Amino acid sequence: MTEETAPYGTGPTTPTTPVKRVRTHHLAQMKERGERITMLTTYDMYTAATFDEAGIDILFVGDSAANNVLGYETTIPVTVDELMPLVRAVAGSVKRALVLADLPFGSYQASPEQAFHTAVRFMKEGGAHAVKVEGGAEIAAQVEKLTTNGVPVMAHIGFTPQSEHALGGYRVQGRGDAAERLREDARAMQAAGAFAVVMEMVPGDIAAEITGELAIPTIGIGAGRDCDGQVLVWTDAFGLRTGRMPRFVKQYADLHGTLLAGARQFADEVRDGTFPGPEHTF
Ligand code: KIV
Repeated sequence: MTEETAPYGTGPTTPTTPVKRVRTHHLAQMKERGERITMLTTYDMYTAATFDEAGIDILFVGDSAANNVLGYETTIPVTVDELMPLVRAVAGSVKRALVLADLPFGSYQASPEQAFHTAVRFMKEGGAHAVKVEGGAEIAAQVEKLTTNGVPVMAHIGFTPQSEHALGGYRVQGRGDAAERLREDARAMQAAGAFAVVMEMVPGDIAAEITGELAIPTIGIGAGRDCDGQVLVWTDAFGLRTGRMPRFVKQYADLHGTLLAGARQFADEVRDGTFPGPEHTF
């Protein structure tokens, strides 16, 4: 059995199973078999390596690095040059996952050529295996230019954070009459050659319908349980970020609490002279 024909989707690699890179056709096979696809954001080498070891299928350097790493309020200001070192760190730290880079606001909307130039930078300089773009029918020409020239593309429809000001803030998309527009966007992205589509903050029944209609996998974030896969922003999912969370977030760990307790203990021990002890001293 060759690497490419071996069965795929058995979860994390172990020392006894050969490491096999997740590729876009594996994701299509997972949809056919009804196996759920897992995707997390990641912005650095340690989380990337950890999530890869956990068997997460797609590791995604989102433009959400803007408000999770770089201290911006929204994703709008982040640039290609700011995201590039993060993509390179992630791509260099994972063995199995498909590494996906987000094209930031303003780096692809102007023309198919602009989109191609930006995507090629992420693949050549960053080592990304695929890119993600936000938008539907209005960016079909960009997606087609990429997919017909060797760049695998994941689309992102529904609530698209880069258009937050145009959409009037964080709101569920595709309710009522807007559902038809959402279906058209999903079809346009599939027709343009996208290998998958993220649906963000979309009613669960509409997301289920689109998932049933499309041949390519759908990945949900606030789009209910019937998508072919799920993505979360890692700092939300593991509790590094605190404060009000969107309803679709489930928190699997309390990293803020763990770090806070550790930092307080370190400070106490330095102040009272407990650290460093003789065992830490040369
Ligand atoms: O940048 C990001 O984190 C995203 C997710 C919301 C999918 O686009």
